[in-house]
Amino acid sequence: MAQFRLTQISDTHLGNHFKPLTDNFHRVSEHIDATRPDLVLNSGDVSFDGSASRDDLVFAKKLHNALPVDCLYLPGNHDIGDNPTAVGPAPTQLPTEESCKAFRSVLGEDRWRFEAAGWCFIGLNSLIMNTGLDREAEQFDWLASHLDTVLGKPVALFLHKPLFLDAPYDPERAETAIRFVPQPSRRRLIEMFGKVDLRLVGSGHVHQRRDYTFEHVRHVWAPSTGFILPDEKQEVIGIKETGLVEYRFQPDSFEVRHVRAPGQVNVDLDMLFGREPAK
Ligand SMILES: [Fe+2]
Ligand SMILES: [Fe+2]
Repeated sequence: MAQFRLTQISDTHLGNHFKPLTDNFHRVSEHIDATRPDLVLNSGDVSFDGSASRDDLVFAKKLHNALPVDCLYLPGNHDIGDNPTAVGPAPTQLPTEESCKAFRSVLGEDRWRFEAAGWCFIGLNSLIMNTGLDREAEQFDWLASHLDTVLGKPVALFLHKPLFLDAPYDPERAETAIRFVPQPSRRRLIEMFGKVDLRLVGSGHVHQRRDYTFEHVRHVWAPSTGFILPDEKQEVIGIKETGLVEYRFQPDSFEVRHVRAPGQVNVDLDMLFGREPAK
């Protein structure tokens, strides 16, 4: 394959009860139908509340099954629970072996590696990091064995949470620790990927579009397909809009396009819950 076209969607937050999110997903589906990439990746928060409701996972899977393109998935905190961090308060729902199993039984593997157009693609479950679950240790072993066989190919890494804000040594702050891959897992990942030719890290989770390069690695934050968070609830870091990301990989190079599907609406979290926006 001389080129490989990948569409990254993220933070679809699908469940049976929020029509504006399903409507936005349908607009994205129409765009995918029109553009027909080789693969669609949903980088997490696939479901509205999959960690508490298997029905949300099943509902989301059904909508993805209707796409005319194969899909891969990665778990988000709304699918399996959130990471414990060293500095922030404990999340209300931690990932468990059961929540990880439920994700896999509905959406398939929560980590994967494949090759296309001369590239190696790796997807990781970023939410089990720091949990101490067996699955966390297994994933690091799995990753080490796969990185040993990359054989010089450029590598694209995808995971739900961005690795860091601007630089690997950014200090963790209690208020934003759950926004990024927590320490010490972040350090371990960066060391492991330092042994291969990492070129791209694609993530979701923040519901803001961002694209920057740190030491030859491009970091792309995919926006949510579904909704944005109001400024009084979340600082502005990148661009607050709903949308998706399209990649075109060729041996030794890649292009990124930041896209909004025709008809996609900037649903605001307050609108979703029928709340008056804060003045
Ligand atoms: Fe999300
Ligand atoms: Fe998330």
